[in-house]
Order: sequence, then C-alpha cells, then structure tokens
Amino acid sequence: MQPADRISGSTPYFFSELGKKISQLRENGVDVIRLDMGSPDLPPEPSIIAALIAEAQKPDVHGYTLGSGVQKFRQAVAAFYSRRFGVELDPTREVIDLIGSKEGLFIISQVLVNRGDVVLVPDPGYGVYAAGAQVAGGQIVPMPLLAENGFLVDLEAIPADMARRARLMFLNYPNNPTGAAAEMGFFERVIDFARQYDIVVAHDAPYADVAFDGYRAPSILQVPGAKDVAVEFNSFSKIYNMAGWRMGMALGNREVLRYIEHYKSLQDSAIFGPIMSAGVAALQGDQEWVEERNQVYQARRDIALEGLRAAGFQVATPRAALYLWIRLPESTNSTKFCARLLEETGVSLTPGVVFGQYGEGYMRLSLVTATERIAEGVARIGEWMNGKANA
Ligand SMILES: Cc1ncc(COP(=O)(O)O)c(C=O)c1O
Repeated sequence: MQPADRISGSTPYFFSELGKKISQLRENGVDVIRLDMGSPDLPPEPSIIAALIAEAQKPDVHGYTLGSGVQKFRQAVAAFYSRRFGVELDPTREVIDLIGSKEGLFIISQVLVNRGDVVLVPDPGYGVYAAGAQVAGGQIVPMPLLAENGFLVDLEAIPADMARRARLMFLNYPNNPTGAAAEMGFFERVIDFARQYDIVVAHDAPYADVAFDGYRAPSILQVPGAKDVAVEFNSFSKIYNMAGWRMGMALGNREVLRYIEHYKSLQDSAIFGPIMSAGVAALQGDQEWVEERNQVYQARRDIALEGLRAAGFQVATPRAALYLWIRLPESTNSTKFCARLLEETGVSLTPGVVFGQYGEGYMRLSLVTATERIAEGVARIGEWMNGKANA
C-alpha cells in the first residue's frame, strides 16, 4: 500500500534502524554502549514523581484535561520565565502547553507555511524542523552551521531572495548537535533580520537549563519586542529529566500560539492533568537539584573530552546541551566511520550527517549514559584509534 506523497519523501527515523542493528549485536553477546541518543538517563527529583502519584490518586482527574489545570500550568510556566529570564508573559495568551516541544515544532510549519514558502532550517539540526516544513510543502533552505562561525547561523549568508520568500526560520541555542551557545547580541541580530524580512522565528531552547561552568543561556524573548516576531519552545524533557512524560511549551507571539492551539484542537487533547500538576511542582520547587544534575553532566563531559582528545580527535568544549560534536579526520564518511566503530568496539555514536549535509565530517556523542559507561566507551574508542594508528 502506498503512503500519501506528504510522507513518502521522508527517510525512516535513523534511530529505529540503529536500534535494530544494536539489538542484533546484543543478541550476539556484544556489550554495546549507546552514546548516540539524547534521552536523559537520570530521573526527575522525587517530589515531582510524588506530585504525579498524589494527583493521579484523585478520582476526578481522569477525564480530558480542561480549563483550570491548563491555566495553572501556563501560569507556572509564565512565572518560571519571569524568574529565570526576566521575560514577562501573559499566561492566557502568550504561553501554551505542548505534548512535548516536538509537537509544537512540527505544528508551527503546518500553521504558517503554504506550499512553496521558504523555511530556513539550521544544518546540522534537530530533524523535526525540516520534517515539519516538508510535510507542510515548504521549500527547505538550509542555514549551514559552520565551525568558523562558532556554529552560529550566518545571517548575511542567507540569500536576500530566499529571505524575502521565507515565512519561518528555525533556530536552536544551546544547540543540538554542535553544543554551541548563542549570546544576546546574536539574538538581537536575528530579531532585526526577522523584522526586516517579515519572518517568524521559532527558537527551540530545550537546553537553556542544561549548562556547565556557571553559564546561563539567554532566551530569545529577552530581546525587546521579540514577541512581535518570535516564538520560543522549551521542554520538561531536558530541564527536568522528564522526556517520557511528554511535556513542553511554546511562548511568545500571540497569533502564532493561537494558530498552534487551533491546530492542536483538531488533532489532540491536552496532557494528562496529573502530569501537568507534576510539571507545576517541578517549576515551583527548589531548582538546586537541576544544578547538581548539571554537575553530573559536566563531569561526564570532561571525562569524554579528555579521552577523545587523547585519542586524537578535535572537539570543542560545550558550555551547554548534552552533546560533544567530534570532528572526524579529513574527508571521513561519518556513516561508515560510526558503523565501523560500532561493529569493532561496541560503542554507538551518531554520524553527523544524520543531522544534515553540513554535519558530514562529524559525529555526535551524548552525555546521557552512566558516567562509568561513558568512561568505558571513550576508553574503547581510544584503544581502537591507537590500534588503527599502529596498524
Ligand atoms: C533540539 C531539540 N528540540 C526538541 C527536542 C524534543 O523535545 P521534547 O521531548 O520536548 O519533544 C529535542 C529532543 O532531543 C531536541 O534535541
């Protein structure tokens, strides 16, 4: 049976294919260390889980989530943005809840992009930006993220005719997969650019609170007037280790949020009420544990950086997000390199090209596996590289 055209052009999700290969290796007795995916391994703080249990035990919370539960959630998100970023938002019109930020990142193209409209997408980048644009019939124009620009989008390199035809621009800082972080000056230039060309900016910021060495990532909504042209996406998945709970939010421009809400009303219903209540508990509780969790990631980052550099790889030190972006030796094919690495060492990393053509020549290591397994994985990579050098 043939699928509809709108999905037939997209390739199957890389991680499903990889999962099958890894299951096979494990069946053959290989001790596989997965450093490829970005799903946090640590649990949320116990009081958040306790809030879910307590709420779920109430008899009247099992229907569709309506009105007041949603409103409390949105108020708590607005209060969090005010405390964390100094950004003031109207909880009724400038915040919406999402079943994971991925949902909103997909829908925004469906509600803004007409067939043939240009969508500016960072490359390498998280796959849903391009996938959503493609399903909407948009023309994807990649914005290369290059080492020489610190993996920031080079706005001047965007051809003016494309900028004029663009409806939407995706951005993501702190960045997956490069680990790059952006400062306010960059966001200010983006907002000016978006105003000049009448483009909506979708800034995806799930890693703003996964940061190291005391770094505090800004929100694009801190730019005065950003709400006129921008929407920011954020997520409980990464801030609070709650990826499986599917809880995210979009904030900023009222019209765009209204369109996303409208689309959502056609396709789904709100998050389960007790999960939202636990989300409120996460936002309102003591945030100290997030800092302690970040120190765990930081220690992992440092172990991995040391081992990879000793093995001869070039890797920048990320100040935020969950990834190391590892430069491969000149003209190496990242897919073949990662496949050989997996087969010969049992260590699984993600080929950079999975994130777009400009990711070729790199591979991504995720910091969401137990510290000792990361150490073991990196040690195996070191031995393997040594063996290759001496071969
Ligand atoms: C850059 C980026 N945006 C969005 C998401 C999806 O987050 P959520 O779990 O909120 O859908 C991810 C998940 O890995 C991500 O890396």
